[in-house]
Amino acid sequence: MSILEEIEKIKLFALEEISKAQEISGLENLRVKYLGRNGNLTHILRSLEKYPLSDRKNIGKLANEIRLILEKEIDEKKKYSEDLEYKKLLENEKLDVTASINKISAGHLHPITKTLEKVEQIFSSMGFEIVDGPEVETEFYNFDALNVPAHHPARDMWDTFWLRQNEVKSEKLKVKSDGRLLMRTHTSPMQVRYMQKNKPPFRIIVPGKVFRREATDARHESTFYHLEGLMVGEDVNIANIKSVFEIFFSNFFEADAKIRLRPSYFPFVEPGLEGDVSCLICRGKGCRLCKNTGWLEIFGAGMVNQKVFIAAGYPKNKYQGFAFGFGLDRFPMMLYGIDDIRLFHSGDLRFLKQF
Ligand code: PHE
Repeated sequence: MSILEEIEKIKLFALEEISKAQEISGLENLRVKYLGRNGNLTHILRSLEKYPLSDRKNIGKLANEIRLILEKEIDEKKKYSEDLEYKKLLENEKLDVTASINKISAGHLHPITKTLEKVEQIFSSMGFEIVDGPEVETEFYNFDALNVPAHHPARDMWDTFWLRQNEVKSEKLKVKSDGRLLMRTHTSPMQVRYMQKNKPPFRIIVPGKVFRREATDARHESTFYHLEGLMVGEDVNIANIKSVFEIFFSNFFEADAKIRLRPSYFPFVEPGLEGDVSCLICRGKGCRLCKNTGWLEIFGAGMVNQKVFIAAGYPKNKYQGFAFGFGLDRFPMMLYGIDDIRLFHSGDLRFLKQF
């Protein structure tokens, strides 16, 4: 093979290698291999004197031509590779603004919790203290102290879940002296518990869960929320009930509310009252929510029976006060038009996410 052929062969090899090179570093290696100080072509150019004078010109010319070709080739390919790498870089960086993202959904408060917070805030602003009581109660606080002795027909109204005594060991509940244990049927037991430890004047509310042996349906649950209220002093009277509720409901419904009191019966109050509030939807004109009466039946109330004061250890006829109780679940039901109380405890997110 003549030297000229050899140079052509180097060219072919080099071009092939250049075309196959993938990265910029590979191209730089090829530049060194063919065009560097110890490169193949450089060698040939340096050793020209080995060849007959007549051939040197051609050899040198061809080698130089090829050197230029390879240099151009490498430079072009290098530029191309640089563009390619830059493009790749951009591709990896691109932002698809239409892509859906996994939203981290934060939870939120239950509709009853929200209602309770609002109720507590309004009563607090009227000077009521918020008090908690036990959900497991004794027969004494749930019934006897509230003037509902054993065999009193009113016990039927609150017939409930009794607990097996030996399964509950609680110092606080004083099982022996206070009778059997049960799930409290109302929050009224806290009236007596609070009065045993505090002297009037005072005003408290007691929110909490209550339990009843109910056949559940859209309007009845075996577990629901009650709110008790108690205000005691030396001259607290029925007019105070009316004004407290007028202020409360006007704030709660964010509209002027009227209160109507009707006679009713609860053993722990005398006289006993049933309290209605003017319908928040129709403002008394009559609609579906108030069944065309213009009034919503909301709370039980009355003047504290002196027998309850005595059970709490107060002297007879020294104090007077009012008590009230209502179901909390009914408020969000009215406000949001919820027609089934069971939804509150169902844990169904399709329901809960609407609030
Ligand atoms: N505890 C009564 C109930 O469960 C409500 C009530 C409370 C009534 C206080 C009068 C006074 O229905």
